Amino acid sequence: MKVLAISGSLRKEALSTRLINAAADLAPDGVEISRLDGLEEIPGFNQDRESEVLEVVEELRRQIESADALLIITPEYNASMPGQLKNAIDWASRPHGESALAGKPAAILSSSPMPFGAIWANQQVRKAFTITGTPTVEREVAIGKVDEKIDDSDRLTDDVARADLSALLAELNELVAVIADQQDKAVAA
Ligand SMILES: Cc1cc2nc3c(=O)[nH]c(=O)nc-3n(C[C@H](O)[C@H](O)[C@H](O)COP(=O)(O)O)c2cc1C
Repeated sequence: MKVLAISGSLRKEALSTRLINAAADLAPDGVEISRLDGLEEIPGFNQDRESEVLEVVEELRRQIESADALLIITPEYNASMPGQLKNAIDWASRPHGESALAGKPAAILSSSPMPFGAIWANQQVRKAFTITGTPTVEREVAIGKVDEKIDDSDRLTDDVARADLSALLAELNELVAVIADQQDKAVAA
């Protein structure tokens, strides 16, 4: 199973981006995690331009479409998901009827050096995914004080955080299988 991880942070040493490596360390056998390229280059969403062929947006859609599932890893800015992550979700969801996010299984992970682990940003991504038709793992994983729970090799050192992230990835794996099964049955019917 190919999982595309989207880190909502653009900065070089982002904890959110380092968590992609932590997730790869805890992924079930057969689950491969790669990182979305090009988030920073995506222009601000403009509905007038949604039918144009913008190469960076096409590339975003291609990366999403070629993945079996998404792992969103979001920090929190002012009690919200970062603007560029929301912007990418908006582009990927359009044009209407051609959304790259519709039916694509996803899991949401958030983190913060603050105690609550960016839970508001986490919930905002979930809310957006209810509208984009993106089936999302129910488990809510928000890692607080993440800077104290990740080592220099980007491995999680905290047992609870490790167990939560492992469970999130296992449930994403199961969700992909359930949806594939439903699609097979729909084709056979
Ligand atoms: C503009 C801005 C707003 C922030 N607002 C919040 C916030 O609402 N909640 C929170 O937990 N942390 C907040 N922070 C702190 C971030 O959690 C912290 O910078 C974190 O390391 C960013 O994630 P990253 O390491 O993945 O880049 C904010 C940081 C910035 C730059």
